[in-house]
Amino acid sequence: MINSISKTKKGERIKKDKNVYFRTDLLQIINEDFLKTTLIPHNSIDLIVTSPPYNVDIHYNSYNDKINYKKYLEFTARWLTKAYKLLKEDGRFCLNIPLDKNKGGQQSVYVDITTIAKKIGFKYHSTIIWNEGNISRRTAWGSWLSARAPYVIAPVEVIVVLYKKHWRKPSGSGKSDITKKEFIEWTSGVWNFGGESKKRVGHPAPFPVELPRRCIKLFTFTDDMVLDPFLGSGTTLIACALTNRRGIGVEIDKTYCETAKNRLIIEGKIIQSKLEF
Ligand SMILES: C[S@@+](CC[C@H](N)C(=O)[O-])C[C@H]1O[C@@H](n2cnc3c(N)ncnc32)[C@H](O)[C@@H]1O
Repeated sequence: MINSISKTKKGERIKKDKNVYFRTDLLQIINEDFLKTTLIPHNSIDLIVTSPPYNVDIHYNSYNDKINYKKYLEFTARWLTKAYKLLKEDGRFCLNIPLDKNKGGQQSVYVDITTIAKKIGFKYHSTIIWNEGNISRRTAWGSWLSARAPYVIAPVEVIVVLYKKHWRKPSGSGKSDITKKEFIEWTSGVWNFGGESKKRVGHPAPFPVELPRRCIKLFTFTDDMVLDPFLGSGTTLIACALTNRRGIGVEIDKTYCETAKNRLIIEGKIIQSKLEF
């Protein structure tokens, strides 16, 4: 059915559209360019968790991950502007990006993207260092054992924590489900856990469920609405399913939408009777 309105079990009105690839009463996969989709209302999202393309020549099916850096930052400004509009006034944003880029010329990716986000209107809260313990990221030493031109590269990524207007969160159920142990461990901003296997999930650049799971439990109340504008293999929606949050994922590539749907059914334990289409 194209462009009709239906209601979830909670009575919320949802626009059904040819671009809605998969939907349950709590979760939705949209197969569309995030810059073009009109399916997500403004001021409706409690938390965005995402890892955008890094512009490091990953071979995605439907996106060229090797554009010049200026163009990459222009694309970044466009999607960040859209993300800002979709967040509620007290909405939060966990942005997983590299610290630096060294392939194809050194760039301070984290600094540049954070600066753009602040220009758009986002407020800065803090930065979490994700140490995935992957030293294989090193591509070259530069000048080996010589001060002529050695290369330094930190084997970490960051999660920049931003918000729209106020950090204190009046909206939502007010109910948190984080344990004491998780709260103490996760509020220390160095997170140590491994990455996800590309082969296992069938996507060239997945993050592990642990990343969105921590962001969701730390920064949202139960029943809140989470968005991932670059859903990939569906990891953020799996974390939503496992934590009982509502979630929307947008992915430009149909094959990855199918991967995300299958992972949701198996890893997100979405039971068959909940499937709507
Ligand atoms: C770094 S991956 C995200 C991986 C995801 N976190 C996961 O765990 O699988 C970025 C994704 O963004 C998608 N993408 C690129 N441009 C897009 C756009 N304009 N709108 C929606 N998705 C896009 C790519 O196809 C790719 O799957």
